[in-house]
Amino acid sequence: MADRYLSFTTTAPGRFLTRRLGLPQPAPLSRWSPGHPALDGPLLHLTAGKTDLDLAPVLARTGLVPGDRAPAAVVLDATGVRDVEGLGEVHAALHPVVRSVAASGRVVVLGSPLDPGDHHQSAAQQALEGFVRSLGKEIGRGRTVNLVRLTDAPAAESTLRFLLSPRSAYVSGQVVQVASGDVTAPGDWDRPLAGRTALVTGAARGIGEAVAETLARDGAHVVVLDIPAAEDDARRVAGRLGGTALALDITAADAGERIAAALPDGLDVLIHNAGITRDRRLVNMPAERWSSVMEVNLASVLRTTDALLSGGTLRPGGRIVATASIAGLAGNAGQTNYGASKAGIAGLVRSLAPRALSVHGVTVNAVAPGFIETKMTAAVPLFIREAGRRMNSLAQGGLPVDVAETTAWLAHPASGAVNGQVVRVCGQSLLGA
Ligand SMILES: NC(=O)c1ccc[n+]([C@@H]2O[C@H](COP(=O)([O-])OP(=O)(O)OC[C@H]3O[C@@H](n4cnc5c(N)ncnc54)[C@H](O)[C@@H]3O)[C@@H](O)[C@H]2O)c1
Repeated sequence: MADRYLSFTTTAPGRFLTRRLGLPQPAPLSRWSPGHPALDGPLLHLTAGKTDLDLAPVLARTGLVPGDRAPAAVVLDATGVRDVEGLGEVHAALHPVVRSVAASGRVVVLGSPLDPGDHHQSAAQQALEGFVRSLGKEIGRGRTVNLVRLTDAPAAESTLRFLLSPRSAYVSGQVVQVASGDVTAPGDWDRPLAGRTALVTGAARGIGEAVAETLARDGAHVVVLDIPAAEDDARRVAGRLGGTALALDITAADAGERIAAALPDGLDVLIHNAGITRDRRLVNMPAERWSSVMEVNLASVLRTTDALLSGGTLRPGGRIVATASIAGLAGNAGQTNYGASKAGIAGLVRSLAPRALSVHGVTVNAVAPGFIETKMTAAVPLFIREAGRRMNSLAQGGLPVDVAETTAWLAHPASGAVNGQVVRVCGQSLLGA
């Protein structure tokens, strides 16, 4: 369903009227396309505090260069901020430039992990989160603000490339931790998944279809899994992408074994996207509504993950990306079943990630979508739908491709140092922010 309000506010009378009435002013977001692969403007690299980070070579490889025009990307290296005086340098660096950041531009603040032995450093570094989330809420014009905690720049290259590109249009107010260590740079950054196989559950339509398309764009052979009733649609999507369809109900007790049998050569990327809602308040919720949501959204994710990891189907260097939801982080009336299942995904990711990496060489992360324009959200009653669309810093719903781009970054071969993260794709939704 088209966002008519957003279209209206891009017209002159619409802009005038909504300003006069103090209504939200969503800016049309500038997204990735083959003809628009990079941000429209120069990069400004700033520093607060004394830094040891060798950032310049990594930033140079993003293709963004310094220039005189309004910056489309501002990177503030605040890894050396250890006290309140250092925070003053954050203000001093960004205060004069923030107004000039181009529409749909990016502000990325770099921080350090909190040092448990130094409460001054921890206070200053934690302060960066409140800073970033507040700036994200006020900056407007489709601009995003995110924080990356890192200790070594090359390990964060895929993350910086993502956050400093049109691919991250609907990701704002996020804090991402990147570990240190060697990462595998792809031979070709435009086709990083070439030669790899990716399986996407629930990919016959909606967000899953967009994920399948984006992973295929990045070079993967995609297996489009969906329930037998959606087999025709799954075949259509797979046919378009040069992939393979797999008709399977993911809740089948032996789903993991059947996937393994269909992929004798192994799997590199596993995307748990299939999900359902069966909303009712708890007082009116029969056990069947509870268990069906739990089965699709959580139990099957746990079972198939275990089967594909322990059976060795997921190869070393593999990636698992599961789909949570802001409803699981913030809670939502009428969704005790759904919210519980999606919070369970965050628990699974945080617990399994370190072990999966050390034992199997596989990373485990989650995306947590907010209000995304799909058939599911088009069916939501008008006023609730409008509230969902506007109650975020970008004042609009996201598109399936926004979740897909975030998934592709987490599935990237160079994202091996991003592990155990739950990244919201919600335009910085006010829910649970
Ligand atoms: N649309 C949103 O705003 C939003 C917000 C937060 C989270 N999410 C999550 O994103 C994911 C995709 O959502 P969507 O809006 O594209 O939903 P959708 O209903 O459009 O698509 C879900 C797909 O999953 C498939 N599926 C359902 N049960 C299955 C099963 N047992 N086995 C195999 N496939 C199954 C469906 O057939 C369908 O093709 C879900 O996990 C959902 O909870 C969506």
